[in-house]
Amino acid sequence: MRTLREISPLREALDECRRRGQRIALVPTMGNLHDGHLALVAEARRRGDVVVATIFVNPLQFGAGEDLDAYPRTLAEDQAKLEDAGCDLLFAPETTTVYPRGLEAQTRVCVPDVSEGLCGGDRPGHFDGVATIVTMLFSLVQPDVACFGEKDYQQLAVIRRLVADLHLPVEVVGVPIVRAADGLALSSRNGYLDASQRAAAPTLYGTLCTLRDALEAGGEVAPALDDGLARLREAGFAPDYLELRDADLGPVTTSTRDAVLLAAARLGPTRLIDNLSLTLP
Ligand code: PAJ
Repeated sequence: MRTLREISPLREALDECRRRGQRIALVPTMGNLHDGHLALVAEARRRGDVVVATIFVNPLQFGAGEDLDAYPRTLAEDQAKLEDAGCDLLFAPETTTVYPRGLEAQTRVCVPDVSEGLCGGDRPGHFDGVATIVTMLFSLVQPDVACFGEKDYQQLAVIRRLVADLHLPVEVVGVPIVRAADGLALSSRNGYLDASQRAAAPTLYGTLCTLRDALEAGGEVAPALDDGLARLREAGFAPDYLELRDADLGPVTTSTRDAVLLAAARLGPTRLIDNLSLTLP
């Protein structure tokens, strides 16, 4: 696997792949890789001839007071994992390479509607930062296919919308959530949890499962969500939201069948997110 830190050699390497007629599959990440990320690399491996991963902790998607500085940076370990997973090219640029004119001067991509509410409500500007870097990575790599995790359900919806609205020639593939044995969705931020928080953390998924079962059995939505919030608080979470939406993140109506439960909740300073799809009766 080659690691490239600059744009010109990346473009040259990819031009060469395209000349050979190879299909390029992209996996964007912020590093500190775990088995969730590696599931995306495996999916990319199945769908492309050349797998390109990116590692960039994107300052544009972090708000003031968020964990930009604390975010774990583990390049050497990440390189070894990507190599083992069959990645061909790693693009790991410096911030000044990505945003040479600084963050304030940066042209931004804004995806309305789907960026609002849920995590977009709690983290203003977050999805503009995500949409901007993902558009830039699509422009730099020009992948045929790009893989994203369903763990970040709203992010995946934002990226699908941006690809549709800008007519970008990229196939976006969603990959199911990879969980620890106790149900906790794998996340780079799980490393922030102390032992007692880590023990409480699976309650987030447990609550979503209980809610799914109740709603699929015809239970009423509002009381079920209230019960879920109460259970999260009992386990020590400070919930940011717990919502039921239709699968496209629109409001649930009487005709909605494919739906999704989405939650964000803080354990101490650590913000965890999770979601679970369900079929309403
Ligand atoms: P990051 O949090 O590093 O996640 C990179 C990709 O891995 C995302 O598509 C995310 O949904 C996926 N992922 C993370 N945990 C997962 C899990 N447990 N199961 C399945 N997939 C999982 O998401 C970002 O980075 C950034 O916002 C990025 C898209 C790279 C833009 O900066």
